[in-house]
Amino acid sequence: MRLLAVALVLLGSLAATTPVVAAPVADSAVADSVVPDSAMSDLGRHEVSYDKYSLTVDGERVMLWSGEFHYFRLPSPELWRDVLEKIRAAGFSGVSLYFHWGYHSPAPGSYDFTGVRDVDRLLRMADELGLYVVARPGPYINAETSGGGFPAWLKAVDGRARSSDPGYTAAYREWLGHINPIIARHQVSRGGSVIAYNVENEYGVNVDAAYMEQLQQKARADGIDVPIVHNNCCGGYLANWSSGQGAVQIPGVDDYPQSFNCPDPKTWASWGEGVTRRLNDDAPVYAAEYQAGAIDLNNAGYEKCRELTGPDYMKVFYKSNVISSGATMFGFYMAYGGTSWGWLPQPNDVYTSYDYGAAITESRGLTTKYDEFKRQGYFMTSVAPILKTDPATAPTSADPAVHTEARSNPDTRTQFVLVRHADRRTDTDLPTTLDWSTPDGRYQVPVRVAGRDAKILVAGYDLGGQRLAWSNSEILTHVTVSGRDVAVFYGRDGEQGSTVLRYSTAPTVKVLDGEVRSSYENGDLRLDYTHSGLSRVLITGGGRQPMLLLLGTDETAAQFWRLDTASGPVLVRGTALARSAQLVGDRLALRADTDRATEVEVFAPARHLTVGGRPVPVRRTSSGSLLGSLPGPEQVRLPELTNWQYRAEPPGFSESGWTTADKTTTASPIKPKTLPVLYADEYGHHNGNVWYRGRFTPTGAEKTVSVNAITGKRGIYLVWLNGRYLGSAAGGVQADSEPVNPDPGRGDFAVPEGLLADGQQAELTVLVENMGHNDDWTADDVRFKQPRGLFGVVVEGATAPISWQIRGSRPSDGERGPMNTGGLYGERAGWHLPGSGGWQQTPGTLSPGVSWYRTNFRLDLPRGHDVSLGLRFDDATARGYRVLIFVNGWNMGQYLNGVGPQREFVLPNGVLRDHNTLTFAVIATEAAQGDPGPVSLVTLGNHRTGAPAGG
Ligand code: GAL
Repeated sequence: MRLLAVALVLLGSLAATTPVVAAPVADSAVADSVVPDSAMSDLGRHEVSYDKYSLTVDGERVMLWSGEFHYFRLPSPELWRDVLEKIRAAGFSGVSLYFHWGYHSPAPGSYDFTGVRDVDRLLRMADELGLYVVARPGPYINAETSGGGFPAWLKAVDGRARSSDPGYTAAYREWLGHINPIIARHQVSRGGSVIAYNVENEYGVNVDAAYMEQLQQKARADGIDVPIVHNNCCGGYLANWSSGQGAVQIPGVDDYPQSFNCPDPKTWASWGEGVTRRLNDDAPVYAAEYQAGAIDLNNAGYEKCRELTGPDYMKVFYKSNVISSGATMFGFYMAYGGTSWGWLPQPNDVYTSYDYGAAITESRGLTTKYDEFKRQGYFMTSVAPILKTDPATAPTSADPAVHTEARSNPDTRTQFVLVRHADRRTDTDLPTTLDWSTPDGRYQVPVRVAGRDAKILVAGYDLGGQRLAWSNSEILTHVTVSGRDVAVFYGRDGEQGSTVLRYSTAPTVKVLDGEVRSSYENGDLRLDYTHSGLSRVLITGGGRQPMLLLLGTDETAAQFWRLDTASGPVLVRGTALARSAQLVGDRLALRADTDRATEVEVFAPARHLTVGGRPVPVRRTSSGSLLGSLPGPEQVRLPELTNWQYRAEPPGFSESGWTTADKTTTASPIKPKTLPVLYADEYGHHNGNVWYRGRFTPTGAEKTVSVNAITGKRGIYLVWLNGRYLGSAAGGVQADSEPVNPDPGRGDFAVPEGLLADGQQAELTVLVENMGHNDDWTADDVRFKQPRGLFGVVVEGATAPISWQIRGSRPSDGERGPMNTGGLYGERAGWHLPGSGGWQQTPGTLSPGVSWYRTNFRLDLPRGHDVSLGLRFDDATARGYRVLIFVNGWNMGQYLNGVGPQREFVLPNGVLRDHNTLTFAVIATEAAQGDPGPVSLVTLGNHRTGAPAGG
């Protein structure tokens, strides 16, 4: 095994120039969130290392089974803990966290790590919950977020992004100078839980090795001493940073084998086999981003994406990958997707919801994918020999249509055998027999593989105090409670199962529940059964400590929760979620949620049970467990949304806030069609809508106003002349085009007869949406630096020049951050905030342009419950308007009537309070009958929780 110090030497020139540095000095910009290093427990300082099999902490092997979570997609730190607890409860040992530069930085030199941006708090939570963290601060992160995580102000910085160009280098060093010290003080080596540091993101298309090297030097200089990793794209075939200048210690691979084709969820493996390549012979195999959902590129809705990446896919691909590659480091993208609220979405691929079809829904609900993660995660983190395996000879299958593949642990000789269809797309149900030479002898083992299924079977395993010769059931997990092993095995409902355990003499077998036949011969106790419900077998004697074997189905196995306590892990069955358990004397104090009245069973060294602090009457069962019952949640009653009020935002409204737009040059590689340069970013307006006002002296002969605007996909712009609405057009996109389209987002608007008079000043007003900034996946600088705003304006027939003014977003909205608001007049004037005045009766009809609507509502939700709410638009007709949804001032997304699939918007607790103000900024391109709507609050989840989320 190689220690980190040795590994650093192998970094070659990097190690020579970058000492591993001690605690960083916090600067004033992050002072708010600084936890003094002394507050970290010295006892908690550990050494992270690795070898070709796995990461280690103080020499102990670690399974990094992590799920991706984006704190910036959940603007409610109280709920970060809820999601992290759910991730941990599924058996994940870690989380992968992107850190979003643009989310923290409204302008050069300005950084904010407070409130919903308090990542120190986030890392503290991960520490407290015992979740390892792979910290991924970019600087570029992709992630379908505006600019791929780059702040939009970077568009105006000279120098190619994602390169060693000095302009870009100075900019990213500012960011890393803030974020690295925060990450550094939460490293495992300093008592925290950051176990690895990811530089850049899929940096493989246009590559600059000096840049990769400099990023690592900066990290080391800022105190990062855990292994540095990288997530290579596309199976590891592009530049993958496994050797040479810029190489990282643990190169990993991103893999999305199912593609993002959500409309066609039955077509598998569109993008490959999904087996993680080993990129470095001396480092663990690292599946850095492994597909666990999908972006909804084709507007199929996220339920289809969940199906595309559902439990059957997870079984076949994840298990195949584990056995084929021997990976022990995983980052499943995403565990929880969340919401691209405000102006977070990157416009080309996503809309407001970033649910991702993940295991945990955007509204924090648990799905059947969560159950599958739990089944696999508990196994991966319970059966330690899987942490060190080499490829091994697989048992032969009597039917070659059943594929087998094996690994074994060189120390314990434990074997792990994958069984699945040779053609994994097949959906027939095949029974066959394996000729299996296990460490305990040669056996003929019956197996059955249903269509689109895979199993990892184990042989030769010292399970607690038992010896498992082999089983054709899969292992969920096992714990030892008061000197007795409790193990949960499972198989598909109705499938035959057999398990063989070794004893020196015949043990006593008592079947407590279900039908299980047993026989004993030559030291082998063989159990045969059909997986159905939950069978229970108590085995005593035979020269070993007692064992309770619980034999379940996929479904009944998923009802178990394994929770760590100071006296070892315990098992809980029955609740919708079990968050944590603590043994206090002879009482188990459980924090758990229910979504219906249910029984609760605990396997723990306890005589009493409390759930959420309340005593639960229990009785002791024949299984030695405690059994009680718990109530479900109370009903939720939601108010109707009535009493809407209204305010209009007429074009060009008010004289305040305008700046002259007269630049004649731009750092953008894309030059405008007409001057002056009217790109919004050039004037510091990076998010949302922008108003333009152009004044000129007409002759009266003007015929057409011809406009080019770049908005990003699905964006629009609206044009008025002398206050008269001329119409709207779709903005340009130019996401991938090279050479750049010379005429993007073109709209020609006829000048109404008699509107302009010779010599009388005319006023042209244009409202341009900015749907977010392109990403920089290709690292070519052109795509990302696409401007937003007006690209050119020509009034045909006019001879006088147009003098322009611009009014856009303010740099930052303190609490809610730089990406919450754009430049609508109402946003600048605070109409989206609770308590603003000047509201009137609604006029009934919607006029073209911007109309504001507001109502208040009070929530009276049952106490001690976790209720997740959403806002639903039920307007069936394609009326073409779009709505910015503000809840208590927070921009929770954009509803595009008639475009895209999203009708329901998740409103997180924390943003929602008891008393709420809901405000809509409605942009309509045509006059329409009636207000937007109908709109209603909907319940997306309701749990009685023993643990109200508390940050
Ligand atoms: C990866 C990328 C992630 C995300 C993902 C698709 O290529 O690293 O940031 O964009 O694709 O959701």
